[in-house]
Amino acid sequence: MLSQNTIAIIKSTVPVLEVHGKAITTRFYQTMFAKHPELLNIFNHANQKQGRQQTALANAVYAAAAHIDRLETILPAVRQIAHKHRSLGIKPEHYPIVGENLLAAIKDVLGEAATDEIIDAWAEAYGVIADVFINVEEEMYREAERAEGGWRDFRPFVVVKKERESDVITSFYLKPQDGGKLPSFVPGQYITVKMDIPGEANTHLRQYSLSDSPGQDYYRISVKREAGEDGKPAGIVSCYLHDHVREGDVLPVSAPAGDFVLDTAADTPVVLISGGVGLTPMFSMLKTIVERQPNRPVTYIHAARNSSTHAMKQQVEDLVKRHPHARAYVLYSEPTAEERARGCYDKEGFVDLPWLQSVLPGNQADFYFCGPVPFMKGIYRSLREWGVPAERIHYEFFGPMGSLEE
Ligand code: HEM
Repeated sequence: MLSQNTIAIIKSTVPVLEVHGKAITTRFYQTMFAKHPELLNIFNHANQKQGRQQTALANAVYAAAAHIDRLETILPAVRQIAHKHRSLGIKPEHYPIVGENLLAAIKDVLGEAATDEIIDAWAEAYGVIADVFINVEEEMYREAERAEGGWRDFRPFVVVKKERESDVITSFYLKPQDGGKLPSFVPGQYITVKMDIPGEANTHLRQYSLSDSPGQDYYRISVKREAGEDGKPAGIVSCYLHDHVREGDVLPVSAPAGDFVLDTAADTPVVLISGGVGLTPMFSMLKTIVERQPNRPVTYIHAARNSSTHAMKQQVEDLVKRHPHARAYVLYSEPTAEERARGCYDKEGFVDLPWLQSVLPGNQADFYFCGPVPFMKGIYRSLREWGVPAERIHYEFFGPMGSLEE
């Protein structure tokens, strides 16, 4: 139990740390990686370079600290992060390393303002927050292990099939090398793939949503080749997967994780909206509804640049034909002249509220969406404007989570 004095110090210093949040976490990563270069095998370097991870971690620590006397209120947020940590193989022994370097960074950035009393209070609070994470994660490791066919850390999987889905997206079908059982998963969940790439000093871990329905004897991931457009660096892992990984290759994989999932116990209408490679969890949800919930209305909306980047077109059409209450719509933002002449899409441009209102019977549904951040902001704004309550809006970011509020 933290003393009232410690709680008071933490609460009064949270706003100060928030102001310096990014400076502190940037400094924290620099010193932590200098002292513990082995952690470079765990963290995503691309996210670090874009500064997104710094913001996510800073926000989470301050949110936790601001609720230090009622940590149970942030348990849903803790669980979401803990899913990711479990999927990456984060261990209890990593927490003191993060704590030590975070406190050192607070001292460095705040200078004399960081009195011993303040630092001691934060050390104590960090210990309490870390224990919450460690306990939730241990329970998740046990769950992953207990599931039929389950396992705890990484398990070698063979790429049994590699299939092109569009000019930029390729699917990889993965089966356990040991020939053992495969645990089920909930549509929307992801796995982590550990990549050893020749010439790279560190291993790379990447999360990919499972893009097929549960109950197959393989896991499928569908990966976009990040070629490095719009000033973004090329994706080391996605390019390696596309260009070099072959059928027969072995990749270590962690058990399915994540709480952005379809509630398969409910029978409310579902609207699935994806932009680009954000279709992977949506396709899994669509297929699961078609296979298991013949009475559940489902609408699948997909936005792509044009047919060259439009993945799983035929698979979606086949699924919709099999389900009496399924409908699918396609939007192209940059159709070719030939596509325009053929009219092989439902709308040219982007998903907006008037269009959603024109194709959906109403706003009484559970909405799931995934795609690039500007796309997600647009959808979120539209749904809120339409009066969809927050608890019926479900979304997932590629990479570190962020905020969709303006
Ligand atoms: C991801 C918070 C401890 C390693 C994250 C994210 C948050 C977070 C908010 C982003 C989650 C998401 O994008 O969905 C925290 C907090 C911690 C903590 C509050 C302490 C109380 C640790 C520890 C390690 C670690 C001890 C291991 C050394 C990671 C990694 C990621 C991550 C590798 C994925 C980020 C990436 O590579 O892009 N954490 N974390 N975290 N965390 Fe933690």
